Amino acid sequence: MEFGQSIRLKRISDSSGVLDVLEFGELGIAKFQRMYMLHSVAESSTRGGHAHKELEQYVIAASGSFTLHLTRFGQQKSIVIDSPEFAYYIPPLTWRDLDNFSIGAVCLVLASAAYAEGDYIRDYEEFIDASEVAQAVEG
Ligand code: TYD
Repeated sequence: MEFGQSIRLKRISDSSGVLDVLEFGELGIAKFQRMYMLHSVAESSTRGGHAHKELEQYVIAASGSFTLHLTRFGQQKSIVIDSPEFAYYIPPLTWRDLDNFSIGAVCLVLASAAYAEGDYIRDYEEFIDASEVAQAVEG
């Protein structure tokens, strides 16, 4: 799965409402350990500003919209996330910033591991160094 690639949830809708279903078994991650929601973000605020060493995540706009900016191994993608029908993959060693939150936006995140501050890379230079080391190892 590419960074920023999306998976379409199974949508079941009728005149009374919409159901979006994500089967974890389809995500290629052994198991999820955590879900969190980022919401009530001020319109002018930016969140994120970090990468992870090992954590894998999927991001969903449960409500409203926001923009996800990703950088991985020198490649950049900016994605407007505005539908609960799609989950976007963020692999390890991906720097992310989130901005442009609409009023009422809810960013739902599925994470492969429990919260661990030691898994964060919050310094951009450190992120570049770690990425170079990983690329060298991968050949
Ligand atoms: P952070 O991941 O930096 O937020 P964002 O990427 O949304 O800007 O987390 C903000 C604070 O919350 C930080 O002090 C760590 C804490 N936190 C937890 O305690 N548990 C969690 O699961 C998460 C995601 C964050």
